[in-house]
Amino acid sequence: MAPTKLFISLMVFSFVNLVMLGILYKLTRTVQNRGTIQTSSRKRLLILNWDKGRSSSEHGMEGGCEMTTNRSRLLEADAVIFSHRSISHKDMPWKYERKSSQVYIWSTREAPGIIQRPSVPNAYREFDGGFFNWTYTLRHDSDVINIKFYRGDVLKTVSKGKKAVDDVIAKKKKLAIWIVSSCAGIKGNIRRLEVAMELEKAGLDLEKFGDCFDADRALAKDANLYDVISEYKFYLSFENSLHCKDYITEKFWRNGLLSDAVPLVWGPSKDDLLSIAPLDSFVFVEDFASSVDVVKYLKYLDSHDEEYRKLFRWREDATMTDEKMIEMTKSRYPHLTVFKKQNTNVCERLLDRKEPKVYESFTDWFINDNPLECVGRQ
Ligand SMILES: *[C@@H]1O[C@H](CO)[C@@H](O)[C@H](O)[C@H]1NC(C)=O
Ligand SMILES: *[C@@H]1O[C@H](CO)[C@@H](O)[C@H](O)[C@H]1NC(C)=O
Repeated sequence: MAPTKLFISLMVFSFVNLVMLGILYKLTRTVQNRGTIQTSSRKRLLILNWDKGRSSSEHGMEGGCEMTTNRSRLLEADAVIFSHRSISHKDMPWKYERKSSQVYIWSTREAPGIIQRPSVPNAYREFDGGFFNWTYTLRHDSDVINIKFYRGDVLKTVSKGKKAVDDVIAKKKKLAIWIVSSCAGIKGNIRRLEVAMELEKAGLDLEKFGDCFDADRALAKDANLYDVISEYKFYLSFENSLHCKDYITEKFWRNGLLSDAVPLVWGPSKDDLLSIAPLDSFVFVEDFASSVDVVKYLKYLDSHDEEYRKLFRWREDATMTDEKMIEMTKSRYPHLTVFKKQNTNVCERLLDRKEPKVYESFTDWFINDNPLECVGRQ
């Protein structure tokens, strides 16, 4: 072959090759793309909510993960969530195979007393010995923190500024209100009713609503909680448990602060409350030596508008932020670990998981690692 001819055929050959390579490349890309899509959808983590009849995606579980309540997908699941509603059922997954990569999560926003009753003294013992990997509770030392309300969120929600506080105060017509539906069953329910009755006996002008009282004390079905509560100066934010770690519920947040009433608090320990609440936003029953002293103080606030108004100072400054309030709280209470919202989403935490973890004694963590009065143990 003449050199020119050879050159030309080489060129043609390479050209054809290049085109073929290009086509091949495109094909591969397409296949790879499909592959990636498949891989990423396969990699989307699956969270199985073991509670039957619950919506699969509850607060704090949403995010980039797939949620299901289909128990047939147990072995596919990256995490399985159990709560007090499902934990006592007989059909727990220990009957089946469990993969060591799976994270079994204890989830609740209840206090331990709700399960550890006198009738079921060792309700959780069978879950000792490594059943649970993580906890998802109100406690700030949980693996994921199961809170619905938080100082920073409340600061963003309420109206702020001098005018806003003027309006809040202008709405006040009555002194104190309590809406409560559980007053038996657990020790805390019984105790809180006693505390409230003692305050009444000491002269507190208290309006009571809910199932704990006579039928005519029921709130109208269509009653708007905010409309009802915001006319009162104080709301009795009484928990069903005493001094259980970080146990502060919607009774403080929704019925109190978010309803523009000052919470009169009984149940949590004071430091737990200070660490998450807006500064100077509540009155704390246990600060006083007696019921008479509590009532005296509330009556004093009732007749001294400027003093009552101080309990809204946290929202009087329209520029107040969570960060600012955290700093103010730290400087007022140097001993306190002031809580800043973090780690509240199960899905995010799963994506980020590193070392395996096991609760050897779940009972010791959830129940016994609380003061005696929390579940009323003797
Ligand atoms: C539950 O999951 C199984 C296994 O993936 C599937 O065959 C079944 O159709 C699912 N059931 C429902 C109600 O989605
Ligand atoms: C979960 O707990 C089981 C049983 O104790 C353990 O074998 C497993 O390694 C743990 N897995 C993770 C992901 O923490």
